[in-house]
Amino acid sequence: MTEFVLVSIAWPYANSDIHQGNVTGSHLPGDIYARAHRLRGNNVLMVSGSDSHGTPVTVKAEEMGLSNLEVYEHYHARFLDLFRRLGISYDLFTSTHTETHFQVSQDIFTQLLGNGFLYRKVTPQMYSPETGKFLPDRYVEGTCPNCGYTGARGDQCDNCNTLFESAAQLINPRSKRDNTSLVLRDTEHFFLDLPAIAEDSLSAWIHDDKEFWRPQVINFARNFIDQGLIGRAVTRDMDWGIPVPVDDATFDGKVLYVWFEAVIGYLSASIEWAANNGEPDAWRNWWYNPDARTLYFIGKDNVPFHTIFWPAQLLGARGLYSDNPAARLNLPYDVPANEFMNMEGQKISGSRNWGVWMLDALDRYDPDPLRYYLTTNMPETRDSDWSWSGFIERNNNELVANWGNVVNRVLSMTQRYFGGVVPEPGELTAADTALLAAIDEGFATVAELYDGCKFRAAVQEVLRLSTLVNQYLEEASPWTTAKTDLAAAGRALYVTLQAISGLKVLWAPVLPFTSQALHELLGETGALFGEQVIRQYDESTRSHLALTYDDAAAVGRWERPAIPAGRRLPKPRPLFKKLEPELAEQEIARLGPKPEID
Ligand code: MF3
Ligand code: ZN
Repeated sequence: MTEFVLVSIAWPYANSDIHQGNVTGSHLPGDIYARAHRLRGNNVLMVSGSDSHGTPVTVKAEEMGLSNLEVYEHYHARFLDLFRRLGISYDLFTSTHTETHFQVSQDIFTQLLGNGFLYRKVTPQMYSPETGKFLPDRYVEGTCPNCGYTGARGDQCDNCNTLFESAAQLINPRSKRDNTSLVLRDTEHFFLDLPAIAEDSLSAWIHDDKEFWRPQVINFARNFIDQGLIGRAVTRDMDWGIPVPVDDATFDGKVLYVWFEAVIGYLSASIEWAANNGEPDAWRNWWYNPDARTLYFIGKDNVPFHTIFWPAQLLGARGLYSDNPAARLNLPYDVPANEFMNMEGQKISGSRNWGVWMLDALDRYDPDPLRYYLTTNMPETRDSDWSWSGFIERNNNELVANWGNVVNRVLSMTQRYFGGVVPEPGELTAADTALLAAIDEGFATVAELYDGCKFRAAVQEVLRLSTLVNQYLEEASPWTTAKTDLAAAGRALYVTLQAISGLKVLWAPVLPFTSQALHELLGETGALFGEQVIRQYDESTRSHLALTYDDAAAVGRWERPAIPAGRRLPKPRPLFKKLEPELAEQEIARLGPKPEID
């Protein structure tokens, strides 16, 4: 049965370039999952976009001396370029700065208000007497009351991960801008009534059957709720963002809190996608269909927002865009959050230039080896590490020496001994059928691993099957039998051609570019996956660029395509390039602060 699968991926802040930790944490696992389901014939909708509001962007704009809009547009354009080149196949990668997103965010707010899950409250906030403005929590720095770290931010301590309800909880608060002390002053905001939603439905949901969730995610979420929730402010004193949709001058100059509206992007992007496709109601197949599955690919720092606050917003906004006031929007089916990836044993850091800036890396390396290394090192259960020597070793020992090698041998021998024509097999032996049966079984086992978001294990399984083909080839040694028993050599090549035809599909979610190349080397036509196109939308929709994916013509299927005897194959070429070990030193030399040049 065809399933509806929503692949939701964390929205990157449009304030810095994307590094390998972001890719392995959310974009790549989401992409692999989406591609596996597309091959299986399911209706996948994969969405995300640039998180363009809030202090992350305003802080950066101040630093760079640019407007907020310029900062967002600069990084947004680079994200699109990166995802297209790396093959992160978003059906829609949009942004929070669109007409649709403003509308849907305000509608959710209004729905929550109408359903009684928002209340107004006056609270003291940090205020800067110097500038006469309230200071967003992000601009506030102070000492963490929990661990004593002196560089804690107003919303969160990066040292012990405590989230603060208010920056007033910090000891000795001061402005990040000018280091002056701050005072508290009253301001009115809307609060999401989390205790009421928890009692109404959220608590029951988080405690229902979730045994397939990653333990660190479900344990965190359950503890978080069980410790008792408090109301959270969903508006801020700021002017960059989405206006609060109430007719009340108190809320002039205030906007929806960036975290409140960014998560709404999953829904608004689905709605935008449907409208762009001329089927404005199609989003309901993923959001109001009880059989649809919605997964959220995120890093561990985003877990509370996706397991507690966003589900609370969805439950509280019941009846949205529906005739039935009790209609429930779909809650996350799974939130396979990843831990973090480090860089050569240290934390990735933008300011210290300590990371792999993916767009830059793509100028020197092909996308699939990068995808491969990031998948084999995905921080699924614990923090992992990127090392350049590890990248080179895995490229050389696994992609080149194992998968690339078996493909290359099979294709070159077909040229050498049979003029590039797929040989007639004659009758298959037990060893032949055993090999093909092992590959065919892989379609069930590997599908299950991809489906369970066990991407590292999926790669190990496909690699094991590639090794089986290598071993079969060693035993059959067609390079010997070609001289003594040409029929036997032909049979071995026929069988291994069928085997690599199957492996091409099993590898495709992780190595889409290579699998497409092999698809063509096997004499097949068409594209396994859809086409990624950057589109410019109309000015009236707050003009922006978006990445889209069109798979109307895609031919990839989750099965082993037969390569018929008698087919003439094109001249082979290697799938992968060997990388010199010296590259590791060169790459490490690029890290760290750049020397001053005068
Ligand atoms: N931009 C935020 C981050 O990178 C949040 C992403 S997920 C969202 O951590 F859905 F809230 F946008
Ligand atoms: Zn702390």
